[in-house]
Amino acid sequence: MPVTRRKFAQSAVAAGMAAALPAGLLSGCSSSKAAGTARPQMPSNADQFEDSSRISFPPGFFWGAATAAYQIEGGWKEDGKGESIWDRFSHTPGKIKNNDNGDTACDSYHRWGEDISLLRAMNLNSYRFSISWPRIQPAGSGPANAMGIDYYSRVIDALLEARIRPLVTLYHWDVPQALEDSGGWPNRDLASRFADYAQLVARALGDRVSDWILFNEPLAFTYRGYLDGSHAPGRKSIFDFLRATHTVNLAQAAAFRAMKAERSGARIGTAFSMSPCQPLTDSAEDRAAAERAHAITNCWFLETALNGRYPRALSFLPETVMGIKAGDFDQIRAPLDFIGINLYYRTMAAAPAILERISTAQQWIFPVKMSAGPQGPKTDIGWEVWPDAMHEMIMRVTREYRRPQIEITESGCAYNEGPDTTGTVRDRRRVEYHRQYLRAVAGAIGQGANVRSYHAWSLMDNFEWTEGYNQRFGLAFVDFTTQQRTIKESGRWYAKVAAENRM
Ligand code: NOJ
Repeated sequence: MPVTRRKFAQSAVAAGMAAALPAGLLSGCSSSKAAGTARPQMPSNADQFEDSSRISFPPGFFWGAATAAYQIEGGWKEDGKGESIWDRFSHTPGKIKNNDNGDTACDSYHRWGEDISLLRAMNLNSYRFSISWPRIQPAGSGPANAMGIDYYSRVIDALLEARIRPLVTLYHWDVPQALEDSGGWPNRDLASRFADYAQLVARALGDRVSDWILFNEPLAFTYRGYLDGSHAPGRKSIFDFLRATHTVNLAQAAAFRAMKAERSGARIGTAFSMSPCQPLTDSAEDRAAAERAHAITNCWFLETALNGRYPRALSFLPETVMGIKAGDFDQIRAPLDFIGINLYYRTMAAAPAILERISTAQQWIFPVKMSAGPQGPKTDIGWEVWPDAMHEMIMRVTREYRRPQIEITESGCAYNEGPDTTGTVRDRRRVEYHRQYLRAVAGAIGQGANVRSYHAWSLMDNFEWTEGYNQRFGLAFVDFTTQQRTIKESGRWYAKVAAENRM
């Protein structure tokens, strides 16, 4: 889709897009011995992988699907599991559409064997899933709950048996409620709590898992949880948000060190919600706004880890408000082994007028108006389909961070087709989405990017946070009354691509 930046800008202006909230903040962002796969070899140029009809991927490429504990497991108080902030939030009337909650979700706590069968049927060799912190430490500290560890042990053993790499996320948004009661992420004590938890998990499961994701979308959960209040725990304070981001940065690095101390060979990264930020017009002000937007959207938890500093996103760095202490900039460094990218769409950025800028503390400190891309087709929930965003983001990370190893930890689309009278789910639009985003990944690999995996969000329809069960992202359809799983047409297409390592 060769559309020039000027054309984006002109049509964006014409569309009058200017959301008050930074939509782009919310994207959505050593080989495994077990899976027995080789390190991907990099192509010398694009032709190696693309001819006019076929696109191939490097040998050993990981074809995956992703899920998260709270979105699929259910079993919310079984086997000693403690309450999480999402249990509390979803049990509070009015917080979730239709008052849905994750008490049962896809019942994966009991049906994990069926889920692994889905992965096998789709020929996948990587499964990204998350561990529920309150299953391991019900109140957020102390020794591991053996029943929680046993559950994940069984899942991991079955994955290895099926020659599927476990790619395990430690935190996909379900902090134990007890830790929220002690101040939540704005309380910097959570950095060491999280490091302790990470070490326990590495000790218990690190003999079989080598690839770990510390945080899922740190910007999304701090922003939505502490600034706009739409996600658990539902707080609304710019100060809490800023402090929470600093704690998470400290936690990321502390957990990285704790896990390496336990398992020196572990590969550890974070899954960042990323979105290329494009200026709404060609004006110098909008271009500067786009750079600020990029800094907060894509680099707030990455520049800290890799370069030990905050990127230039804010008009000034409020060190006192954030609780930054002497020595913290040494502590937040962590040489991540890979960069996880969750990417769904691009983001437009514009500079606010001066009166807007002084209207709120948020605009004063972060003078950017972010909005959705206006041109591409929309998914059923209004997200712009813009495959070029994937290519642009991978290439920018590749350029700016010295060609790091990248895992595409999520990409996907909500289309709500259900089974037709024959029981078939004909979701051609999802096939097209993944085909185009994968073509963008292959293009970036062809230009030298070091990408080793693609994980579709999601393996199956599940609990979509405040949207409840109304948004279906799965490659498999889930009937939430019977819990029956049906592989959609997209899942069958993906199975073929994975088996052939090309499309
Ligand atoms: C981002 C999140 O990681 C995941 O939990 C969510 O369901 C998807 N994107 C879709 O919104």
